[in-house]
Amino acid sequence: GKVAVLLGGGSAERPVSLMSGNGVLAALRAVGVDAHAFDPAERPLQALQADGFDRAFIALHGRGGEDGTLQGALEWLGIPYTGSGVTASGVAMDKTMTKRVWGTEGLPTPPYLALARAELTRERIRQIPDELGLPVIVKPPHEGSSIGITKAVGYSDMQGAVDLALGFDDELLFEQCIDGPEVTCAVLGQGESAVALPVVEIRAAGGDYSYENKYVSNDTQYLFGTLPAALEAEIQQLVLKAYRLLGCRGWGRADLMLRKADMKPFLLEMNTSPGMTSHSLVPKAAQAVGIAYPQLCLWLLAQARL
Ligand code: DAL
Ligand code: MG
Repeated sequence: GKVAVLLGGGSAERPVSLMSGNGVLAALRAVGVDAHAFDPAERPLQALQADGFDRAFIALHGRGGEDGTLQGALEWLGIPYTGSGVTASGVAMDKTMTKRVWGTEGLPTPPYLALARAELTRERIRQIPDELGLPVIVKPPHEGSSIGITKAVGYSDMQGAVDLALGFDDELLFEQCIDGPEVTCAVLGQGESAVALPVVEIRAAGGDYSYENKYVSNDTQYLFGTLPAALEAEIQQLVLKAYRLLGCRGWGRADLMLRKADMKPFLLEMNTSPGMTSHSLVPKAAQAVGIAYPQLCLWLLAQARL
């Protein structure tokens, strides 16, 4: 059949998606798949039907591609797609909603406050560090790739952090900063048959895994086997629980912070359309268990469904 690799899109992560999508496209073509790029920012999605595509590989990141809206449209068009369905995609795109879901089962996430634009007066903003402690991580809950995120280390950083994040979202997420190390753990599959890949520890320059350190810098280190085996297994079990609770399928990648004092893991978020760039984490984790990038793409495509 004819496969559409959905890439680009209209979110703030468009440049990342173009890198992911072009990587997937080249890999699928190299193994003989009749794959074509399709950018929903340039053409209406209905064209997929007219052009005779019978499957879609979603390499879109962020709003409009990873948040359930596109998944819903593909359901209507009857075109099977890779990754999570409508509900899991929608919940996972919202970091605050994700924390609420995980909280119902006692899964650990950093202490937080969720505040809407109208609540964010100067006085309210000043109270946030008193409640959460400094530093505070200020996030627009519907973005990815660290876009709009600030680590506010002092009271004086708070207003600028809020102003930046409000450029992306109307309700913000304020989280207590868990000091690290920062780790990530990918999952393949669905439900009881889902499996966790090896945990990757991320060491970014200056301890800041920013957009620059994610996609541009070659100085960020990605390390396997740095944690004690029992802790690695504990993180994998936690991430599998987190993945299943959201109802994810196909694949996903949870990002976590460990608390230096006792190495307790805290879940930050679940990415339902993880990056597939040359710097990205899922391809590295798959490679570590012998799944090469083209095989990973083929496997994900085989899992595509409605
Ligand atoms: N949001 C980026 C693409 C990631 O999580 O990999
Ligand atoms: Mg993310």
